[in-house]
Amino acid sequence: MAEEAILSYLEKGEVISDSGVFASERGIDHNEIVNVIKSLHGFRYVDAEDIKRETWVLTDEGKTYAAAGSPEVQLFLAIPPEGISKEELQKKLDPSAFKIGCAQAAKNKWVELGKQLISRKVEHVEDRVKELLLKVQEGQVIGSDDIKALKARKLIVPQTWNGYSVKKGPNYAPRRKKVVTDLTRDNLQSGEWKELEFKEYNYSAKGQPLEGGYLHPLLKVRHQLKQIFLCMGFEEMPTNNFVESSFWNFDTLFQPQQHPARDSHDTFFLSVPSTAKYMPEDYVERVKDVHEVGGYGSRGYAYDWKREEADKNILRTHTTAVSSRMLYQLAQKPFAPKKYFSIDRVFRNEAVDRTHLAEFHQIEGLVCDRGLTLRDLIGVLHDFFSRMGMTKLKFKPAYNPYTEPSMEIFSYHEGLEKWVEVGNSGMFRPEMLRPMGLPEDVQVIAWGLSLERPTMILYGIDNIRDLFGHKVDLGLIKRNSICRLGIE
Ligand code: PHE
Repeated sequence: MAEEAILSYLEKGEVISDSGVFASERGIDHNEIVNVIKSLHGFRYVDAEDIKRETWVLTDEGKTYAAAGSPEVQLFLAIPPEGISKEELQKKLDPSAFKIGCAQAAKNKWVELGKQLISRKVEHVEDRVKELLLKVQEGQVIGSDDIKALKARKLIVPQTWNGYSVKKGPNYAPRRKKVVTDLTRDNLQSGEWKELEFKEYNYSAKGQPLEGGYLHPLLKVRHQLKQIFLCMGFEEMPTNNFVESSFWNFDTLFQPQQHPARDSHDTFFLSVPSTAKYMPEDYVERVKDVHEVGGYGSRGYAYDWKREEADKNILRTHTTAVSSRMLYQLAQKPFAPKKYFSIDRVFRNEAVDRTHLAEFHQIEGLVCDRGLTLRDLIGVLHDFFSRMGMTKLKFKPAYNPYTEPSMEIFSYHEGLEKWVEVGNSGMFRPEMLRPMGLPEDVQVIAWGLSLERPTMILYGIDNIRDLFGHKVDLGLIKRNSICRLGIE
């Protein structure tokens, strides 16, 4: 109704010079008029300019007098024509009305305040104070002397009044068009879209919080790491085989069959199917030989290599099993250099504690090319880890059955103020690469690390069970921030 009143008034070519007057003439609440003006102004239907006015409003005391009459009139009316004693009069009025009433009525020379008797000095009085207060209450203008007097008696106080003057705006229309928020199939089919006016996008509005589909921190960090590898030109290896034969997981990696890692204390063995069926038999022979008698400059381990041991199915204990398969495949074709990576799950039969789980994720990278050296490995590691925000690296000699030399990787953590172990690396041994059939001058540099470690550091989680497994707080999954590698 307020909107209609404003728009149709403007349609006649008129301007609204004062929204206050406009509102009271039409008996519409001024606040309602103001809200409509603001909204119309926002859509530029109207131009509006602020009007500020000092007005007067009644104090609580002023309001009671406006309703019940001024105290001086109350007092006057309480005095009978023959007069009244002070005590009797006091009984008829409340104490403040009596006190103020006496003072004001005496000042107006309406009453005689005798010692014994209070009596009227005039026959009839008019309540101007009440009249003036009612005018102020209705927003009418009163004289400046009257204002001064009422203000002095603290019956009125000043207040700023805000209103507007209003005229047509650039988008003026006698009726507000309904703005549409979405373009629908129906709009398109009916041709209605030609006439529709669309609501402008508010790019600073916040979106609705999502109720589902949250990413686990491990997935976020995995995504970032994948980007790093892809930027460095690495290809992802297929890691969709959690079940692996001992052959690919251990034997091809020159890990002797009596190695403690191959014990059921460290590795999960499968009962069904307990053994793997298909092996490249000629390669199996070469692997058996290198374990038993060596070759390629090696003396081997000098033990009886058993096929049954190699056939046993296990849950892969590292993704290096996948690297081994990929390198073997590479060796079957004319040689071409490769850079491979993988990030996926591995399994170890370990006692679960705050830093160990029976399953976790490994990140693995390898470069296969002619004439690679340890310096290439160190260079690639610096490149890789600096992209994760780890610029200070240290290397410590280590041992792996399948690499020589081997290095543990440490990174200085500025937050923890200490060196933390971040990975393991090395150059694959000839005992591993030569039986595959890779050319003699081809070297492979490789490294591996867990996905959980950097994730825990990045997200400030100190118990791995809070990150992964059935004890994880789903709230953490909902609230965890985006992953920013390299920013502490
Ligand atoms: N496979 C090793 C591990 O499980 C990591 C590694 C990969 C080490 C490649 C050297 C080379 O810890």
